[in-house]
Amino acid sequence: MRTGELELQQITPDDAGFIAALEEVGMPTSDLASSGGIYFALFNEHAQAVGYCGYETLEEGGEGIAFIRSCAVPEAGRGKGAGRAMMDALMDRLSDAGLSDLYLLTMDADPFFERFGFKIISRDDAPDAVRATSQFSLEICNGAVLMRRRPDSGVA
Ligand SMILES: CC(C)(COP(=O)(O)OP(=O)(O)OC[C@H]1O[C@@H](n2cnc3c(N)ncnc32)[C@H](O)[C@@H]1OP(=O)(O)O)[C@@H](O)C(=O)NCCC(=O)NCCS
Repeated sequence: MRTGELELQQITPDDAGFIAALEEVGMPTSDLASSGGIYFALFNEHAQAVGYCGYETLEEGGEGIAFIRSCAVPEAGRGKGAGRAMMDALMDRLSDAGLSDLYLLTMDADPFFERFGFKIISRDDAPDAVRATSQFSLEICNGAVLMRRRPDSGVA
């Protein structure tokens, strides 16, 4: 999948660059391998990874929902559009996979995700499947806000 000169490619959860990018921002890595998630790197035209993201597919009430996680652009590359390109490409993938009800946790990037149609909801309103993810109960994510993008949301 291409977004201009940028391409999203699946990576394994033990990818060294991915782990380093998450550790740089203090995001959890201990549950990556056991999460069953699908993870991606966004590569530029020089085959350098400029961002990382992933999602877990969950089931709630017989419907598939996606829990987006582990989105990070290494600090040196921020503010150049990689985050936007990565989210656009990821949401295309999710749409192709028939996943349109999207959730995520974020510490302080909620204004970024609002640009893609996500809205903050109370953690008390988390579906059971989201509540059961390791991210939801990890101490490191205690202060994170829960966001949802409903199937009928427009992209900002
Ligand atoms: C959030 C993050 C992925 C954004 O990546 P980025 O490459 O800097 O984003 P972009 O350059 O594509 O920015 C797209 C737009 O969002 C805005 N934006 C970026 N980060 C923002 C933030 N934290 N809050 C508000 N707006 C933000 C940019 O100003 C830009 O606006 P514009 O289109 O009007 O110019 C990156 O800052 C990051 O990795 N943060 C640390 C990890 C994190 O918080 N991850 C989210 C939890 S899963």
